[in-house]
This record gives sequence, C-alpha cells and structure tokens, in this order.
Amino acid sequence: MKRVDDFRLRLGNKEYVPIMIGGMGVDISTSELALEAARLGGIGHISDAMVPDVSDRKFDTTFVKDKTKLYKFNINNMDKSVVQFDLDRLAEATRLHVGATMEAKKGDGLIFVNCMEKLTMNAPKETLRTRLASALDAGIDGITMSAGLHLGSFELIKDHPRFRDAQLGIIVSSVRALQLFLKKVARLNRLPDFVIVEGPLAGGHLGFGMDWAQYDLHTIMDEIHAFLAKEELSIPLIAAGGIFTGTDAVGFLEKGAGGVQVATRFTVTHECGLPYNVKQEYFKASEEDIIVNGVSPTGYPMRMLRQTPAIGSGIRPGCESYGYLLDATGNCAYINSYNREVLAHPGEKNISVMDKTCLCTHMRNFNCWTCGSTTYRLKDTTHKLADGSYQVLSAEHVFKDYQFSINNEVALPPREDAAAA
Ligand SMILES: Cc1cc2nc3c(=O)[nH]c(=O)nc-3n(C[C@H](O)[C@H](O)[C@H](O)COP(=O)(O)O)c2cc1C
Repeated sequence: MKRVDDFRLRLGNKEYVPIMIGGMGVDISTSELALEAARLGGIGHISDAMVPDVSDRKFDTTFVKDKTKLYKFNINNMDKSVVQFDLDRLAEATRLHVGATMEAKKGDGLIFVNCMEKLTMNAPKETLRTRLASALDAGIDGITMSAGLHLGSFELIKDHPRFRDAQLGIIVSSVRALQLFLKKVARLNRLPDFVIVEGPLAGGHLGFGMDWAQYDLHTIMDEIHAFLAKEELSIPLIAAGGIFTGTDAVGFLEKGAGGVQVATRFTVTHECGLPYNVKQEYFKASEEDIIVNGVSPTGYPMRMLRQTPAIGSGIRPGCESYGYLLDATGNCAYINSYNREVLAHPGEKNISVMDKTCLCTHMRNFNCWTCGSTTYRLKDTTHKLADGSYQVLSAEHVFKDYQFSINNEVALPPREDAAAA
C-alpha cells in the first residue's frame, strides 16, 4: 500500500514532498505555517491579501492608519470611487511580508504567494502588477494565481527579470478555464510551472456556481489530464479540495497528479493565523454547520460556518481603510447592499445586511469563518481535553500525517493535558 511519501513533485529540476499547504487569506496561512511546509520539504503558501494590514500587525508599519487618515473625509460618503491604493506603499508592504518570510526559510521546500485576481483594489491591472512584481523582487520562490482567470497576469510581469525562473502557477476548476489561460499565455512562450485543480469541496471562494455539488474533483482531474496528454503538454497537476487523509492524496497521486494542495486540516494548527477561539469553532463544527452562500461581494460562492459573525452584519463599508474589493469603477457589491439598507431604514443605528458582507473588514478581523467541506471531521484528528476544548495541533504533525499515513488513518497527537499522565 502506497503513502504520499512514495511520490515526489518535480518542479524545475528539483523534487519535493508532494504536499502544498494552500494560501489562506487574510494571514490565515501565516509565514509560520508556510515555513513549516518548506522546512519539511513541501510547499507552503503565504497570501498577499490585505498585505498592508498584515504588515502593520507584523512589522509595526502604519499603512492602514495612513490610508484611513488620507481618505477620512470620505467615510460617510456612499460613493467610494475616490479611494485608491498608493502603489509604492503596496509594493513596500508586499516586500516586507515576503522578504521577512523568505529570510526565515529553512529546509528544502518552497514558499509561494497566493495572489487573488478578485482583489481588484480600484485599479485591477496596476495593483496586480505591483503585487506580483514586488513579490518577485522580494525573492518569493513562486506565485499561485487564484480567484480569477488571470488571463492578463503573466503579461503584467513578462519583463520582470525573474519571470522565467520563478515557479508560476494558476488555480483552475475546469478544463475550460485552463484552456483559456493557456491560449492567452501561448504568445509569451511561457507555460505555467504547475496547475492547481481545485474542486468544489475546498475552503474559501469556489470556482463554481451554486451548482457546485454537481462537480467532482476526480472527474475534473481526469478531464485535465486527458487534455494535457492530447496537447502533449507536461505540466504537474496539483489536486485540491476535500483531501482529508494521506490515502485521499494517494488516490490522486496514483492517477498521475504531481501533488496535492490541502488547507482545512491546517486551520487547527498552532501556526495557523486564526485566533484560538475560532480554531475551537472549526473543531466543534458539525456537517450541517458547513454552508455555501453568496454573501461574498466577489460574486463567487464561498464556503463558511453557519455561525460566521459576518453573516447579516451591517457594518459601515471599511473601504477608506481597506477597499480591496473595489472594482475598476470603485464599487463593491457590499456597498450597494449596505446603502440599500441604510436608505430603507432611515435613522436606524444597527442595520443588518443579509445578502452581502463586508469581506475586507470581516476577513481582517477573523469574523468570516470560511472553511473547507471536511471541517466537521477535524474533531476526529485530535483529543477532546478535560475542559471540553480540543487540543490544537502542530503543523508538523498534520503534514507528516498526510505524508506517512495509510489506510485512511489519521494519527492523533500526543495528548497534552493531565489525562496524558
Ligand atoms: C480558511 C481557508 C481560507 C482560504 N483562503 C483562500 C485564499 O485566500 N485564496 C485561495 O486561493 N484559496 C483559499 N483557500 C483554499 C485553499 O487554499 C485550498 O485550495 C483548499 O481549501 C484545499 O481544500 P481543503 O481545505 O479541503 O484541504 C482557503 C481555504 C481555507 C480552508
């Protein structure tokens, strides 16, 4: 019987343990988590979502405070189109976050940054170019382009000195999305180094409509394998979404996947950026608690816990401080919903907005509890302690469980409370 460690992911002329820890914004996949994956010979992701805010928390910079001050005059204005990102400051924040992470890297693995196209930031092209280029400047090993088709993203960095040596890949959820992407990059003579195929069971935003349940990762992987074979293209495919055990992973590796990308199991590790009490919510969740809804202003369905505080919250849009989802015209679906409710409830202090949520503010405050479909199984991966809480795991423990387990088994960690004695 095979285990994940019997396989290797080949990127360039090097081999890695074929486990990627997926990007989880905003700073849920922390540097510490990504660094553990790299130390253990796999691949970790940091995220560049809201990186000025992440930088303020980590390095005592004042990017958010300064931006809020600059646009303070607009806070009560319903029109947010004036709010812009200073590209130099965005680059500085990215270089700080990426640079510090790369400096701390040990081991034979890699660190990639997850870059979501849907963070349109009121100037989609310019801000994306800045984010991609400054991550490359700061020495990131690779970039995973996600949450969007990224049809113009390679073009944005084609003149960067690292364009051909960094590992560049894309997340797709269908053969069609990959075909569109490959068609676009054909004239740059630069294929992606890896393709992550994310099925409908993943956490975060889904690359499907509300009919997501009709799709299946194995089928999509088979379709993409067949397409690449027909085109005589050899690009490692990384399967993602709902892979809970090493045995699940082997099921994809044996069929030719280069690796797997996993995330949910790492949400309850010490290195994950979620606060302790939120990790406990993930442990406690039952299957019925895991829902997919349309509250994200991006327009993509998003999976989250039913108890997510962000659902129904009617806070004032935080665009003057954040504004990461402002589209090319300076608008966001939450602003429309919020303004509608304000107009419908004149003079009311606490309004509720049900159809959309202020994703920037709530992700920033860890109040949007996005999660993968297998979250309800996390309680089976640890011990319930005497006080009723669940024991948080180490990233190393979870990584090695994926790497070495067989028979769909999940190894429990050494117990940490008095009962261990
Ligand atoms: C809490 C959480 C946050 C996530 N955030 C992002 C994100 O910001 N960008 C992204 O491309 N994928 C995101 N994902 C998806 C993961 O990177 C990964 O591909 C997927 O969840 C793997 O499936 P699994 O969670 O079932 O292991 C997130 C997943 C989780 C669980």
